[in-house]
Amino acid sequence: MSLHPVDALIRRLPKTELHLHIEGTLEPELMFALAKRNGVALPYADVDALRAAYDFSDLQSFLDLYYAGADVLRTRQDFYDLTWAYLERAQADGIVHTEIFFDPQTHTGRGIPFDVAFGGIRQALDDARSRLGISSRLILSFLRHLSEEDGLATLEVALPHLAGIDGFGLDSSERGHPPSKFQRLFARCRSLGLPCVAHAGEEGPPAYVWEALDLLQVVRIDHGVRSLEDLGLVQRLAEARVPLTVCPLSNVRLKVYPQLAMHPLRQMLQAGLLATVNSDDPAYFGGYLQENLLACRAALDLSADEVVRLVRNGFEAAWLPAAEQARWLADVERIHADWQAGSAG
Ligand code: HPA
Ligand code: ZN
Repeated sequence: MSLHPVDALIRRLPKTELHLHIEGTLEPELMFALAKRNGVALPYADVDALRAAYDFSDLQSFLDLYYAGADVLRTRQDFYDLTWAYLERAQADGIVHTEIFFDPQTHTGRGIPFDVAFGGIRQALDDARSRLGISSRLILSFLRHLSEEDGLATLEVALPHLAGIDGFGLDSSERGHPPSKFQRLFARCRSLGLPCVAHAGEEGPPAYVWEALDLLQVVRIDHGVRSLEDLGLVQRLAEARVPLTVCPLSNVRLKVYPQLAMHPLRQMLQAGLLATVNSDDPAYFGGYLQENLLACRAALDLSADEVVRLVRNGFEAAWLPAAEQARWLADVERIHADWQAGSAG
């Protein structure tokens, strides 16, 4: 089968990833290897049985498995190996800049000290800069199903490591845990001078996106697909150029949309939203970043211009110095022009 011409372009372009939970890159093979290394019993006979359990009905059914899976992560080396495995895949996908979430409360809550998780992840990201040529940012994400007090206590523990943290996020069970629950925590985060983001409008209503913007003063919305239900919100997001880190394969796996062909990615672009494509929890959702782009290209028949728009949006939305951003955008333009010249001939 010959490669679709737009797929060839997708493969050639430099890309960003702005919505990636490092715990969500734990592949079944590594989960079993770490379980063995750490003497942890898994309730699955083998990798195939585990993969067969990845049949989710909604966000919560995924989170239950995702938190259980993270229990095999015990040592600094485990977190390093997890992060390095992701970074090697990222490099193979053409990712040149990645901004990843980690959930410290998932680990401190089961007795793993903050600096064990943070230290391993941070070291791998630092090594990736020199060894893989990938730049990165690390976002400490709070679990919204826990209390604001738990989040504030976690922030206190993180303070000595602030030099290695680039921003703060909010994830986990959305419904019933609105952004308004975390106003004091995010005010404290902002007072530290770091940018904040929040998952909103994945399963939750557009009102949660408004709250994330107005009450938490986030600079990006993670997911945000349900914003389309509120025209006033779409206008606000478009005018303020607030990036939305959309995760198409995640949305299908968690039944936000019944199939990829019904995903509103194109409508988001047409509405003037700064939508980007990302993988979320690729080990659980069946595809890393490039697979998300290729699957959307096929299911939605994305044009080369739409693909380039999405990739450009990623660089625009990234926390990169202006000069680096401009350099990558120029690379995107050049590769797009070369591709056009090639596909015209
Ligand atoms: N939504 C909320 N919490 C999460 C997700 C998600 O997509 N992935 C990991 N934690
Ligand atoms: Zn997410």
